[in-house]
Amino acid sequence: MEQQKRYGHFDDQHREYVITDPQTPWPWINYLGNEDFFSLISNTAGGYSFYKDAKFRRITRYRYNNVPMDNGGRYFYIKDGDTVWNPGWKPCKTPLDFYECRHGMSYTRITGRKDGVEASVLFFVPLKKWCEVQKLTLKNESSAVKKLKLFSFEEWCLWNAATDMENFQRNFSTGEVEIEGSTIYHKTEYRERRNHYAFYHVNAPIQGYDTDRETFVGLYNEFANPDAVMEGKPRNSHAHGWSPIASHYIEVELKPGESKDFVFLLGYIENEQDEKFEAPQVINKKKAHALISELDTTEKVDKAFAELNALWDNLLNIYKVRTGNDKLDRMVNIWNQYQCMVTFNFSRSASFFESGVGRGMGFRDSNQDLVGFVHQIPPRARQRIIDIASTQFPDGGCYHQYQPLTKRGNNDIGGGFNDDPCWLIFGTVAYIKETGDFSILDEMVPFDNQPGSEVTLFEHLKISMDHVIKNLGPHMLPLIGRADWNDCLNLNCFSWDPNESFQTTENVSEGTKAESLMIAGLFVVTGKDYVALCKKTGKDDEAARMQKAVDAMIDAVKKHGWDGEWYLRAYDFYGRKIGSNENDEAKIFIESQGWCTMAEIGAEDGLVAKSLDSCKKYLECEHGMVLNNPAFSKYIYEYGEISSYPEGYKENAGIFCHNNPWVIIGECLAGRGNDAWSHYAKILPSYVEEKYQTLHKVEPYVNCQMVAGKDAFKPGEGKNSWLTGTAAWMWYTVSEFILGIKPDYDGIRIDPCLPETATDYTVQRKFRDADYEITIHPNGAQKGVKKVVLDGSPIEGTVIPYSAGKHVVEVTM
Ligand code: BGC
Repeated sequence: MEQQKRYGHFDDQHREYVITDPQTPWPWINYLGNEDFFSLISNTAGGYSFYKDAKFRRITRYRYNNVPMDNGGRYFYIKDGDTVWNPGWKPCKTPLDFYECRHGMSYTRITGRKDGVEASVLFFVPLKKWCEVQKLTLKNESSAVKKLKLFSFEEWCLWNAATDMENFQRNFSTGEVEIEGSTIYHKTEYRERRNHYAFYHVNAPIQGYDTDRETFVGLYNEFANPDAVMEGKPRNSHAHGWSPIASHYIEVELKPGESKDFVFLLGYIENEQDEKFEAPQVINKKKAHALISELDTTEKVDKAFAELNALWDNLLNIYKVRTGNDKLDRMVNIWNQYQCMVTFNFSRSASFFESGVGRGMGFRDSNQDLVGFVHQIPPRARQRIIDIASTQFPDGGCYHQYQPLTKRGNNDIGGGFNDDPCWLIFGTVAYIKETGDFSILDEMVPFDNQPGSEVTLFEHLKISMDHVIKNLGPHMLPLIGRADWNDCLNLNCFSWDPNESFQTTENVSEGTKAESLMIAGLFVVTGKDYVALCKKTGKDDEAARMQKAVDAMIDAVKKHGWDGEWYLRAYDFYGRKIGSNENDEAKIFIESQGWCTMAEIGAEDGLVAKSLDSCKKYLECEHGMVLNNPAFSKYIYEYGEISSYPEGYKENAGIFCHNNPWVIIGECLAGRGNDAWSHYAKILPSYVEEKYQTLHKVEPYVNCQMVAGKDAFKPGEGKNSWLTGTAAWMWYTVSEFILGIKPDYDGIRIDPCLPETATDYTVQRKFRDADYEITIHPNGAQKGVKKVVLDGSPIEGTVIPYSAGKHVVEVTM
């Protein structure tokens, strides 16, 4: 491999990724905020903020797929004599003497130096507060007095990010602002139905401001050279319609060696209907003043920042491994867990690949994300389960997505994905195993959010299982519906109209024979979990009923789902095989190999081992396992979107990182630790970060949804970073199946599956009210625990029985 250019490196001690060149091959971003107020921020300070919902409550404007890329964000312009520069290099792109961006846990620090001045900005969202803090520190490192002109910049979004991009006939007339001291308020549509406004404040007197974009920038200029900045003169413009912005102007004088802090605050406020105004047309600023006063000094900001760091100390103390392998440790202890929190918060709504207007929270996605997150803040996972289940229909079917602001199912994205219901069991079981909180099963949860329709959560689980059983096809395998996990395997859609979305176009259910082996495997895995849960809660009849259904499914898969060397993928509308040696293309798919091996269907007859071998033989390549092989080379009307992609991309034979862990878990269950590890390392960001800084393109500290597969024009190129089920699945795989620390109803099950080369390692695991220090001695074994010693005494079996307090565990393999 030729030596590649490096753009950054890990700093494990500070839990940061340090970017040292602003011209990364793609914007490398981070997320700020943990609960209600969120921001996306790139390594050059591009991005935007929103409250809860990236579609309905967008606070600042962002233009996707722009030229140049990633234009627009929170910008500080520093005019030093005739030179104008930004700490994050963009948008002026004035060459800097030093540049560094440190992405950390829910914060980003960007530092630039130019001509003896250092400007460092710390961006974060304080806990429980609806604002983004931007603490700018200016330092004079030269030996002369510096007289600087500082301009801040934010551009307001008119709240609904979708209409903001299209309804210009209205938008150009609605914009409204107020200016009070050093605070610029954005109050568009507040006069009518909105009860919220935003503000941009700085904790210093200002010598001018601008709120009208064209006046500030100049119609024929760009963010790189706004008129006001270039001239060093704010216009004190007051926006009426057009495009409201917020820019403060501050004159700063710094003696040699002197430094000054400025706290900028981008805030969001909601008022009660009858308290909206303090005078006719004048917004009630009481809450804004209060929020500002909580963060108006460096000390207060530093304290809020320390609280944020403490939160992350706690979150990352729950599961901590020491293997001596930095690359593994940093992913397990820091970045994988961090990405899990982000995907839990955002589902697939807002990233640099997800516009924030297209998708809300996915039913299946959120259930999976939960598994990566539940150990961190179980009460939030609990709430999420209830929110998700509340959007379900009485027959167990689901809206595919719901909007985070309203928590209502979103019909625009469709429904009828027949795998969806099973994921509710997956998420709920993970929650109960982590917490021991069976009471969640008794929560009363509505259907489709309709008051009066409430039944227990357990009832929701039951109808979820039944939804599969009631929708079986001719081979007694699950009917696929619109699609299963693979949104793009649309076997009942038949679309020739390019303007039609595969997600919402007709989904023919009459006469279909389209069945899914992926759902079959998923049903068996979640069915076994459901049976165990029923037994655990004394519902023996229900357990027996479902065990029968699970057994029947296993039989059906063995009879109609095995192709000789691997599991079939599906049957199409007409009952023809998909993912079979008989097919010309796409003879083998990963999803059914993953789920049927996780379900261990036919393990006793060697099916699992054969399937796993076939994954190695046909799906694996240098960068991971592709989704199907060979790729589709043409559009197949009966298959839908999957065959619409060029070879090697996305669902057509891309490396969909999300489903590699399924096969890895299959490997772990089969005890094949060497194979499990080699698959895992191929898509572990820290393992590929050195080799692929330019090829991979996207952030080297998190997984991306898709890496171009072996049939692609450029294998190894990554796309769709950050918001992907890969995060939770990588976490689930490594924490529970490779390192083998598995929460269970009565305690922690120890069952690692390791490469032969693994050496002793220790996992620090907080579990409910207990604290376990578990040391594993692999002794060259890939699988098989021989002895577990708990606090000095050997125990029977491999489950450490839960009891509060501190415990030391020694495990010999
Ligand atoms: C969706 C998932 C889906 C996957 C495969 C992702 O974009 O969010 O729900 O399972 O694609 O199609």
